[in-house]
Amino acid sequence: MGLLSCSISETITPSLLFFFLFCFIGFGTATFNVTTLAFDEGYNPLFGDGNLVRSPDGHSVRLLLDVYTGSGFISSRMYQHGFFSAKIKLPSDYTAGIVVAFYTSNGDVFEKNHDELDIEFLGNIEGKPWRFQTNVYGNGSTNRGREERYNLWFDPSKEFHRYSILWTAKNIIFYVDEVPIREVVRNDAMGGDYPSKPMSLYATIWDASSWATNGGKYKVNYEYAPFTSEFKDLVLDGCAIDPIQKFPNSTACSETDTWLESRDYAVITPKSRSAMRRFRQRYMYYSYCYDNVRYPITPPECAVDSNEKQRFRNTGRLRFGGSHRKQARMERARRKRRSRAASVSDDQTDM
Ligand SMILES: *[C@@H]1O[C@H](CO)[C@@H](O)[C@H](O)[C@H]1NC(C)=O
Ligand SMILES: *[C@@H]1O[C@H](CO)[C@@H](O)[C@H](O)[C@H]1NC(C)=O
Repeated sequence: MGLLSCSISETITPSLLFFFLFCFIGFGTATFNVTTLAFDEGYNPLFGDGNLVRSPDGHSVRLLLDVYTGSGFISSRMYQHGFFSAKIKLPSDYTAGIVVAFYTSNGDVFEKNHDELDIEFLGNIEGKPWRFQTNVYGNGSTNRGREERYNLWFDPSKEFHRYSILWTAKNIIFYVDEVPIREVVRNDAMGGDYPSKPMSLYATIWDASSWATNGGKYKVNYEYAPFTSEFKDLVLDGCAIDPIQKFPNSTACSETDTWLESRDYAVITPKSRSAMRRFRQRYMYYSYCYDNVRYPITPPECAVDSNEKQRFRNTGRLRFGGSHRKQARMERARRKRRSRAASVSDDQTDM
């Protein structure tokens, strides 16, 4: 990431601005030190037979959606805490109605009270940027969604980017490349809503015409099929347990937990924390934490950031439309006002 990518990523217009944003966000965050797996070392096909295509070297896999079926894979084992990560390239062109999901779940084992952590890419109509959401469920809290939705600072169908979910006993962090975009710190008041039981990793592509794009307005158009997503540089760090052993004993994972919590991706440095803040200020366009219509009482894990909050209505949606450019204009105006008020160090590093 960083300078090389940004020097080649922006040749066309609207984007001198994005050029800077991209460089800035990417800048200074070192690549994670991770060990990658071949597909067969950690995963099994889940559905879609011929629509799951392994590369000849076994290190990457393509998931296709055509008119007959989507496809997916699952980790061979379940994990009690872990870092689940892959470099992903999404389908390009017209992808309305398609969802590409990268998530952890134990819904097959705990039907009534499952846990789940989601990254879901929501298809787009041609020419519009991809959007995605993250979500957290614990112990069957499916009637208490904890969605956040975002845009990206790059086109995820052009190149591979790393997407990751870290889950420890203390916190959950979602990453895009090395930028933490969301952290959920465990809080006693969350109770069972904080995921606590072993989960598998899933990756899927499927037809979600009924809801994915503009609330279902745009459906999958199979004239553009097959839709291809690619996964590589797969990472599964964590305490692997036997799926039959639904609840690992309390010491079984303590060594792995300590190891996991000491990894570079488990530590949010001040620098990556400010990258997270900037990402959220520029690219998040919905948060359940600011959706007071849905949650009159703010959920206990929400760390309400007053700068962040002022951008949202009480429906959790953006106050002033959602376009990048409009957002960016406002951001610049805000920054100008702020720097006129002679605030210091934070401003120097912005853009
Ligand atoms: C999780 O759900 C089960 C079944 O509904 C319940 O018995 C249990 O107490 C819950 N656990 C927590 C930590 O809330
Ligand atoms: C818990 O798991 C560890 C590691 O698998 C094992 O060594 C230990 O004997 C187990 N303890 C109990 C009480 O089952």
